[in-house]
Amino acid sequence: MQVRRIVLLTGAGISAESGLGTFRDRDGLWTRHRLEDVATPDGFRRNPVLVHDFYNRRRSDLKTASPNAAHLALARLEQEMIGAGGSVTIVTQNVDDLHERAGSKTVIHMHGELLSALCGACETRDRWEADLGVETECRRCGVVGTLRPDVVWFGEIPYHMTNIQRALAACDLFVAVGTSGEVYPAAGFVEMARVLGAATLELNLEPSSSARVFDAGRYGPATEIVPVWVAETLASVPH
Ligand code: OAD
Repeated sequence: MQVRRIVLLTGAGISAESGLGTFRDRDGLWTRHRLEDVATPDGFRRNPVLVHDFYNRRRSDLKTASPNAAHLALARLEQEMIGAGGSVTIVTQNVDDLHERAGSKTVIHMHGELLSALCGACETRDRWEADLGVETECRRCGVVGTLRPDVVWFGEIPYHMTNIQRALAACDLFVAVGTSGEVYPAAGFVEMARVLGAATLELNLEPSSSARVFDAGRYGPATEIVPVWVAETLASVPH
């Protein structure tokens, strides 16, 4: 099959070897924190200080992390596929900016971004690199105490769903990288892409719980398997 339009769904596993923790692996974030406390609107209402601390720590960890060989390989894939008349869209569940720092241009952050703040008063999203707290003032409307991390929490609707559905409908290959497939709607993208005619591939440390929905799977650390798959894919595309 001639591959021209690729959609990649990435998850925490692609950033694991950059030193950022995953959620559900042994020692993952959800084994150490209750997601009801730090990843729901209710949790934020109950204890905003705790929630700000959690995301401030993750924002500070991100500043010392760097893109790894898997992020870099996906950026190369995009550049060369565009050169060959194709396209690569990365739909990421990750709130880090490692795809962008690796050089990827078409990145859709469906679960928001750590380096962004959302104001509950004026509803603007604003690039934000510093710590957030209950006394932080919104730079746009000047109200104090209304900023929250611009991260999609459980019970909220992910960003950019229309664009994602368009990309899924247009792709001929859908690849999930480093995601457990436990969280919807992202977990349903493979089925959507498959029904709409795309080939599907899982790249993960080990088979996820939805592995059998994919046409094929390759397993191992992302920094090893992603660059190999990218090199093979590019070798099969006429330039
Ligand atoms: P998970 O922690 O659920 O899954 C991480 C996946 O990465 C697992 O399948 C691991 O096997 C795999 N993995 C771990 N290390 C890897 C490595 N070095 N190379 C390749 N794969 C590796 O993380 P996500 O699937 O991203 O949402 O979680 C989805 C969503 O659940 C997150 O966006 C977050 C979380 O709750 C919100 O906060 C809304």
